[in-house]
Amino acid sequence: MELARLLQSQGFGSRAECRALVANGRVSVDGRRCADWAEQFEAAGLVLSVDGVCWRHRRAAYLALHKPFGYECSHRPQHHPSVYSLLPLPLIRRGVEAVGRLDADTSGLLLLSDDGAFVHRYTSPRKRVAKVYELRTRHVVDDAQVAALLAGVTLRDEALAVAAVGCQRLDERRLRLSVTLGRYHLVKRMLAAVGNRVESLHRVAIGGFVLPPELRAGEWMWLEAADLERLAAGGSAATADGLQHGGHAAMEGTPGWS
Ligand code: URA
Repeated sequence: MELARLLQSQGFGSRAECRALVANGRVSVDGRRCADWAEQFEAAGLVLSVDGVCWRHRRAAYLALHKPFGYECSHRPQHHPSVYSLLPLPLIRRGVEAVGRLDADTSGLLLLSDDGAFVHRYTSPRKRVAKVYELRTRHVVDDAQVAALLAGVTLRDEALAVAAVGCQRLDERRLRLSVTLGRYHLVKRMLAAVGNRVESLHRVAIGGFVLPPELRAGEWMWLEAADLERLAAGGSAATADGLQHGGHAAMEGTPGWS
């Protein structure tokens, strides 16, 4: 593929802007400075360097972001900075979108991609992908509340009962809750429906992919083939050993979580 087109596909601007990047000596391929924007390359496995920053060619972008507390999942945020401000410009320009949304006061795992089918797969309730949250409650969680969350609770303004697919008490005011639906304020409304209240909320896993403890709030990573396989492996992560370490480590950085 032509170098200018390759750069364009990776989010470095319009074709004209990408031609100019090459003409101005700002692009190297596999360590060699390129002067000809029309030079042809095999895209697969190619490592581009733009202004000294290396980018491996990716046909599609799959990302995991550790969303910090106090960020909105919107391109036009109203009250807080946007999660998109945490990503480098080429990723925005190639059109990555959040896979669903987290509230501004929720932290944790947020997936992003420019692959529409992927975004659909992980947002569609019909796919029943488990999203695992750890939360702190205002009041002590009793057995009756855990049983009700698992049996199904009726949310205000919803005709259907919504049940958690997993609910584990971590201590008297902390829960790990798995749900497959995506609804506005779902977890907060489920806890309200059993007479409790969420004080802090952190997403630790989606499907079989657990937020890595080394990915700090505000940081993002590429999802590689093994990560995508884990993600597709389903809700088994909710009980996986990795979650028990990773989930807790990640949650300690969130406000109100000590
Ligand atoms: N449920 C909520 O209430 N908020 C979130 O951000 C995600 C799930």
